[in-house]
Amino acid sequence: MLAPGQVARRILGRHFEPVGNVYRRVFVDLNAIAGFLDAELPRGAKVLDIGGGDGAVIERLLNRRPDLPVTMCDLAPSIGAFLSDGNRAKVKLLPATDIADVTGSYDAVTISDVIHHVPVDQRDIFFKSLADCCKRWGCRKIILKDIEPGGVRAMLSLLADRYITGDKHVVLFSRSDFADLARRHFPKAQRGSAIPDWPNYCEVLSW
Ligand SMILES: C[S@@+](CC[C@H](N)C(=O)[O-])C[C@H]1O[C@@H](n2cnc3c(N)ncnc32)[C@H](O)[C@@H]1O
Repeated sequence: MLAPGQVARRILGRHFEPVGNVYRRVFVDLNAIAGFLDAELPRGAKVLDIGGGDGAVIERLLNRRPDLPVTMCDLAPSIGAFLSDGNRAKVKLLPATDIADVTGSYDAVTISDVIHHVPVDQRDIFFKSLADCCKRWGCRKIILKDIEPGGVRAMLSLLADRYITGDKHVVLFSRSDFADLARRHFPKAQRGSAIPDWPNYCEVLSW
């Protein structure tokens, strides 16, 4: 049976994007997240966006930073639906692609609202694979956005992912969970943290 979010996507068709944007705004101010990414990414940096989904974050980032060449990968078979025509032409889309199969070189990786969808027992393997991939890509910076558990907005976000998006694996990924995995797999990296829109946090690893 389709989840309510998938039913809405089918029924609304091209109107799904504006409705989706209003819905997502309850949980996060994506312009604040794009503003944070903007400040962290050097001019012309080659960006790999892991788990880019519809491209809601990358659309906002490229509106501010048309200088950034972006590649977006995702396990999902169809991605980039929220990119405007102008921005879609600039983004290399890699649907149905695991990070281990992404080739090329990248200056920075962005990962927005992805890890809470990765089953808890697979997160360590994901970060190990990410560390191996970063070596291969020559990447020295990771910017991660996720949701700190605790509080009403975080709980609503979790419930919406479980019962509207329909992902039963969702478990929020805290900053301390991130710190543990960063210490294990990126032991030489410097870590920076920010909360552009509580409970939405951003973490930066650079080395
Ligand atoms: C909530 S969406 C976030 C989309 C986008 N990053 C944003 O913030 O607007 C989560 C996305 O992560 C993708 N995803 C989940 N696990 C993944 C993995 N192991 N590798 C790549 N993408 C993954 C899902 O397919 C989905 O498109």
